[in-house]
Amino acid sequence: MTQPAVLFVCLGNICRSPLAEAAFRKAAEDAGLDAHADSAGTAAYHVDEPPDPRSIAMAAAKGIDIRHYRGRQLVREDFARFTHIFAMDHQNLRNIEAIRPGNATAHVSLLLDLVAGREGAAIADPYYDGEDRFEDTWDDVEVAAKALVQQLTGELKQ
Ligand code: 4NP
Repeated sequence: MTQPAVLFVCLGNICRSPLAEAAFRKAAEDAGLDAHADSAGTAAYHVDEPPDPRSIAMAAAKGIDIRHYRGRQLVREDFARFTHIFAMDHQNLRNIEAIRPGNATAHVSLLLDLVAGREGAAIADPYYDGEDRFEDTWDDVEVAAKALVQQLTGELKQ
């Protein structure tokens, strides 16, 4: 298998997907997995902006600095650049499928499809909620990131 390249996608690319990217980078590093990772939004509201301060604080509480991350919008080229594209919720998944080119090679799915017992579930949008909601977001992206690292590590051994 070629080097995994994974893209995490939410709506704004400032709350959920930066945390998913951070959790995956950490889990991959801990496991010694060499993988490319990035995140994007289906919307362009926050292009070139750093993550939401609540996501920056959540990552910092886990010892991860994401202040240098910058928002960007999902583009059609991503479907060839990445081996896997993960949507945080069903609306993101629909938006991803809507621009997916016919020759896309990336595997597209919901992020929580990776977690046994939570297949088909969404990671709720915490943007309009309080800071404590970001703990739930972190728990969701972290469990999925660990499952993804385990899956990719297994595939690379085959
Ligand atoms: P995210 O959260 O998709 O997890 O980054 C949101 C960020 C911004 C907006 C909505 C959701 N917004 O409407 O600006």
